[in-house]
Amino acid sequence: MRLQGKTALITGAARGIGLAFAKAYLAEGAKVALADLDGAEAAAAGLGPQAMGLALDVTDPASIDAGVATVADWGGGIDILVNNAGVFDLAPIVDITRASYDRLFDVNVKGTLFVLQAVAKLMIAQGRGGKIINIASQAGRRGEPHVAVYCATKAAVISLTQSAGLDLIRHGINVNGIAPGVIDTPMWDEVDRLFARTEGKPIGQKKREVGAAVPFGRMGRPEDMTGTAVFLASSESDYIVAQTFNVDGGNWMS
Ligand SMILES: NC(=O)c1ccc[n+]([C@@H]2O[C@H](COP(=O)([O-])OP(=O)(O)OC[C@H]3O[C@@H](n4cnc5c(N)ncnc54)[C@H](O)[C@@H]3O)[C@@H](O)[C@H]2O)c1
Repeated sequence: MRLQGKTALITGAARGIGLAFAKAYLAEGAKVALADLDGAEAAAAGLGPQAMGLALDVTDPASIDAGVATVADWGGGIDILVNNAGVFDLAPIVDITRASYDRLFDVNVKGTLFVLQAVAKLMIAQGRGGKIINIASQAGRRGEPHVAVYCATKAAVISLTQSAGLDLIRHGINVNGIAPGVIDTPMWDEVDRLFARTEGKPIGQKKREVGAAVPFGRMGRPEDMTGTAVFLASSESDYIVAQTFNVDGGNWMS
């Protein structure tokens, strides 16, 4: 029960990695607000009285403000934020559209920064510190031929984690990140479909290829991410500042 008495807000938590984080935090005794574009209420409904679901669009300032206020009222403040909402797209450099660029940067970078900002203001006012965990990606460590924009957004998340971590630690707020590798979630089903279209591969082939290439021997599962997420939300990580941890079965070393 390492998170007993704490309230967590997790964005993009209706499914995938965010939902696994929510379950892990609940198991450690936290109250958890699951936020998503839609589906968060339904996801929270089966998780017991310590969970709540709310609609929150990380690209919409009014939605962020309303969501943070709702969660703070419900939970007696916010102690832990996981900036997990994210979107993916794929295109060769010559085919990248401005619409795709804007969508990925709006959700992955602007969304991360301005949810972090709203919660950091609250945490500073609360005066009891806090933990902020940004979900980056191995894609933020190195470019990929057809993944330029997503890679750039996740490199930006790693950079924002460094700057926010250095700025906010004087308030007792730890900002750190997790860089997952290839994790079997609904997002990767979409990634597989996009690779099938862009690289002319049969459906499922890209997934098999990336899984086989992981030194651990398989793709990650959302549950493989939760140990680091609990650690970074707990007092055990108090002296860790502005770091992004690779949780990827050995794919990257940095
Ligand atoms: N799956 C992987 O292999 C992998 C690898 C590295 C990093 N990541 C990152 O981990 C995070 C979670 O990924 P996942 O695989 O669980 O993806 P997912 O697509 O299964 O879940 C992402 C969730 O974010 C939500 N979301 C999208 N836009 C939103 C918005 N504007 N406001 C609020 N919520 C929004 C979606 O509705 C969805 O429920 C993402 O940031 C992703 O980039 C995933």
